[in-house]
Amino acid sequence: MLPFLGIILLLPFITGDTLPTNYEYYTSDGLSSGLVADQPTYFTLNGKNFTIYSGALHYFRVPRAYWRVSLKKIRAAGLNTVETYVPWNLHEPQSGIYDFGDGGSEMEDFLHLEEFLQTAKEEDLFVLLRPGPYICAEYNFGGFPAWLLRESVGFRVHDERYFNILLSKVSDYQFQKNGSIIGFQLENEYGFSPEPDSAYVQALYDIYVENDIVELLMTSDPPYAGLNGTLPDLMYHAINFGSDPTNNFATLLDMQPNKPVMAMEFWTGWFDFWGGDHNTKDAATFKEAYEQILSYPGSINLYIFIGGTNFGTLNGASLALPTTLALIQSPRATIMTPPVSEAGDYTQKYYDIKELIEKYNPVKTYTPDVPDLIPRATYPSVRIQNQLPLGDVLDYHPPYIIESENVIAMEMLDINNSSGQSYGYIVYRKENVNLENGTVLKIEGHVCDTVMVLVDGVLVSPILESLDDFDGFGYWRLKDSTLVLNSEAKLNATIDVVVEEWGRMNGGTLQQYNQTFKGLWQGDVLLNDEKVTNWKIIPLELKRNWTNSLDSWSYISSDVGPAFYYVDLQIEDEPTDMYLDMRNWTKGTVIVNGFNIGKYLRFGPQLALYVPAPFLKQGSNRIVIFEHFKAHTEVEFSTDPIYVTVRYWRKEGIKVFYFVANVPLTFILSFTTVSFDITTYHLKS
Ligand SMILES: *[C@@H]1O[C@H](CO)[C@@H](O)[C@H](O)[C@H]1NC(C)=O
Ligand SMILES: *[C@@H]1O[C@H](CO)[C@@H](O)[C@H](O)[C@H]1NC(C)=O
Ligand SMILES: *[C@@H]1O[C@H](CO)[C@@H](O)[C@H](O)[C@H]1NC(C)=O
Ligand SMILES: *[C@@H]1O[C@H](CO)[C@@H](O)[C@H](O)[C@H]1NC(C)=O
Ligand SMILES: *[C@@H]1O[C@H](CO)[C@@H](O)[C@H](O)[C@H]1NC(C)=O
Ligand SMILES: *[C@@H]1O[C@H](CO)[C@@H](O)[C@H](O)[C@H]1NC(C)=O
Ligand SMILES: *[C@@H]1O[C@H](CO)[C@@H](O)[C@H](O)[C@H]1NC(C)=O
Ligand SMILES: *[C@@H]1O[C@H](CO)[C@@H](O)[C@H](O)[C@H]1NC(C)=O
Ligand SMILES: *[C@@H]1O[C@H](CO)[C@@H](O)[C@H](O)[C@H]1NC(C)=O
Ligand SMILES: *[C@@H]1O[C@H](CO)[C@@H](O)[C@H](O)[C@H]1NC(C)=O
Repeated sequence: MLPFLGIILLLPFITGDTLPTNYEYYTSDGLSSGLVADQPTYFTLNGKNFTIYSGALHYFRVPRAYWRVSLKKIRAAGLNTVETYVPWNLHEPQSGIYDFGDGGSEMEDFLHLEEFLQTAKEEDLFVLLRPGPYICAEYNFGGFPAWLLRESVGFRVHDERYFNILLSKVSDYQFQKNGSIIGFQLENEYGFSPEPDSAYVQALYDIYVENDIVELLMTSDPPYAGLNGTLPDLMYHAINFGSDPTNNFATLLDMQPNKPVMAMEFWTGWFDFWGGDHNTKDAATFKEAYEQILSYPGSINLYIFIGGTNFGTLNGASLALPTTLALIQSPRATIMTPPVSEAGDYTQKYYDIKELIEKYNPVKTYTPDVPDLIPRATYPSVRIQNQLPLGDVLDYHPPYIIESENVIAMEMLDINNSSGQSYGYIVYRKENVNLENGTVLKIEGHVCDTVMVLVDGVLVSPILESLDDFDGFGYWRLKDSTLVLNSEAKLNATIDVVVEEWGRMNGGTLQQYNQTFKGLWQGDVLLNDEKVTNWKIIPLELKRNWTNSLDSWSYISSDVGPAFYYVDLQIEDEPTDMYLDMRNWTKGTVIVNGFNIGKYLRFGPQLALYVPAPFLKQGSNRIVIFEHFKAHTEVEFSTDPIYVTVRYWRKEGIKVFYFVANVPLTFILSFTTVSFDITTYHLKS
C-alpha cells in the first residue's frame, strides 16, 4: 500500500506538471481571510476571486474505504469543492449518545466526519458543510433522529446540545484554521417551510458564532421562497433549482444584488420511489444548463455528484400522508442520473462537467487523472438451504419483549435509554386467543407503513402480487383496514401483527412531521369489534449482533410467508464490488456479514442491491435475507445494477408494465404497438 501511495504523491512532479494545487494557489501567500461574498460576480477566497465548482458526496452514503477515491473523482473532474450534509440521526443515534466514528452504532464506520474533512483537503478539495439540523437529503426523516418524536418540542427546532458537540468537532477543520471547510449552510430550504421564523434562524446563527465558526455562513432555498429563511445582513443566500439558470439567477440578483450568484443545489437528476418510475435526466439537457451556469458566471454545487446508497433503513419518503411512499434504496444513484453512480461508474455527465470546467474556470490548477473504476464482478449463484420462519424467531429468538396494555408506536417503546426504536420492524404479539371461524381483525387508522399478519406463525394476510395490492390490506394507504383471519375455529392461537417502517418523510409541513410515528399508533386493534389488550411488543431492528447470532436454521419447509434465509458465499480471492440480483424475490431486507444492505421490492425500479467490497471478505460471507412473502431458491449476483421501468398506462383499463432490466427499451417496444412519451435509457452509457 505504501509504495503505491508514494507513486501517487510523486506523480505531479514526475509528469513535470508545474500547475499549483488549489490550496497552493489560494494559500501559498499566507492565510488572511476565508470565503467572502462582498462583490458582484465572484466570491473571494483568501482575497482572490473564486468560483465555487462543487459536487455533493454524502459520506454517510459511501463506504469509508471509498472516500478517497471518490473525492479524487470529484477533483479529477475539475471541481474545487465537495459538499456534504451531516446527518443528525446517525451522529446522535440515541438521545445523548453520539457517534463520530467507532461509537458503536451500526453505521459507525461511515461516521468519521473529521477523517472525511481531512481527506478532502488531502485530495485538494475545499468543503461546504450542510449540518441542518434538517437536511432533507431524501433521507429518513430528513436527518432528524426518530427519538425527537418522543419529545414534543416540535420539529426543525435546533438542538443546541448536538450542535455544540458537532461544531466543536468541525471547528478545527475550518479553512482559516488551515482546514478544508470554506462555508456552512445553516438549515435547509427553511424559507420554504410554512412559517419561517427569523428568531429561530438567529438562534442557530448564534450557536455557530459561539462555537467559533468563522467561515461564511449561508442559507439556501428554491428561488420563489424569497429571503424568508435567511438573515440577509448576516448571511449569504444561495438558491436551489433544476433548470432555467438564467432566470433563477436573475431572481436571486433581484433579492440579493451586488453579490455573486450561487446554485447550492443544481439537480443532476431526480430520485426514484419504490414502485414508481426510474427517473433520469438526460445528459444533453444537463450539459446545456450547466454551461449556462458556468458562463453566467455562477458558483454551483452539483446535487448530487456521486450517487451513494441508502444502506439499511435510511431512505426517506414523500407525499402527503397517509400516502407516504418510500424512496428507493439509492436516490440519485442510478446510472443515468448522477455524474458518478453509486458504484463509482462515470457517466456522460462526468465527462461533460470536466470539459466545461476546463473551458470556463479562469484559474488553472493541477488536476489529477481520472481514477480507474473500482472493479466489479459477479459470483455463481448459491442455492439456499437454510430457513428460519419469522414465527420461530419470535418464539425462540426475540431480541427483546415489552409488555404493553395497548399498541404503541415504535418510537415510544421504553428501550434504548428512553430513545425508543428508530428503524426496522416492530411486532405486536397477542397470545392465547380463541378464534371463532371467520374472525375479523381490524386495525384502526393507518398502518405505518406495511403490515403482515400471522396466526400461529402462518401468514394469513395477502401475498404481495402487484402494485395494486398497495391499495389493499397490509399497506399505508388503507384506513381502518380489516382482515378475516381464519376459516375454521382455532383455540389458544397466537397472532403476530408485524409492522415495517419503510422510511420517514424527508419533507413536508410541521403538521405532517408529528404523524411520522411508525408501527401501530393511530387507534386500537380489534378482533370481531372487540378491542385487544395486553400485547407483547417485539422490536426487530435486525441489528448486527442479533442477526449474526441467529441459529437453529433448518431446511426450507415453506417458501411462502415471512422468513429469514441464509447462505454462505465463499469468496476465494480478494472480494470485489458486486450487486445482489433480487429479481426473483418479492419484498424484504438483505443483511451481509451483519450489515443491513437495504430493502428490495420486486416492482423496482431498482432490482439489484449494491454490495461494496469493503463489506465482504475473503472466505466465508454470511448473507441473510428477510423475505416477507415468496422466497427464491437461490441467491443470485450481478456485476451491474438492474432497473425496471414500471410504466403505468391506463387506457381502457389496461395497465402495461415495461420490464426493462438489462434489455434495451427499444427492444421491448418493438413487441408493442403503443407509443407514448417514454424516457429511453441504457444501463451503460
Ligand atoms: C475580481 O472580480 C471582480 C468583481 O467581478 C473584478 O472587478 C476584478 O477585476 C476581479 N479581479 C481579478 C484579479 O480578476
Ligand atoms: C442515557 O442518556 C443520557 C442522556 O439522555 C446519558 O447521559 C446517559 O449516559 C445515557 N445512558 C446510557 C447507559 O447510555
Ligand atoms: C496546514 O496543514 C498542512 C496539511 O494539510 C500542514 O502541512 C501545514 O503544516 C499546516 N500549516 C500550519 C501553519 O499549521
Ligand atoms: C415571506 O414571509 C412573509 C411574512 O410571513 C409572507 O407574507 C411572504 O409571502 C413570504 N414570502 C415568500 C416569498 O414566501
Ligand atoms: C434498542 O433496544 C433494543 C432492546 O433492548 C435492542 O435490541 C437494540 O439493539 C437497541 N437499539 C440500539 C440502536 O441500540
Ligand atoms: C368457516 O366459515 C366459512 C364462511 O362462512 C365457511 O365457508 C367454512 O365452511 C367455515 N369453516 C368451518 C370449518 O366451519
Ligand atoms: C397455549 O399456547 C401456548 C403457546 O403459545 C402454550 O404454552 C400453552 O400451554 C397453551 N395453552 C393451552 C391451554 O393449550
Ligand atoms: C400534530 O400537530 C398538529 C398541529 O400542531 C396537531 O393538531 C396534531 O394533534 C398533532 N398530531 C399528533 C399525532 O401529535
Ligand atoms: C456485538 O458483538 C461484539 C463481538 O462479539 C461485541 O464486542 C459487542 O460489544 C457487541 N455489541 C453489542 C451492542 O452488544
Ligand atoms: C429469475 O428471474 C429471471 C428474470 O425474471 C428469470 O429469467 C430466471 O429464470 C429466474 N431464475 C429462476 C431460477 O427462476
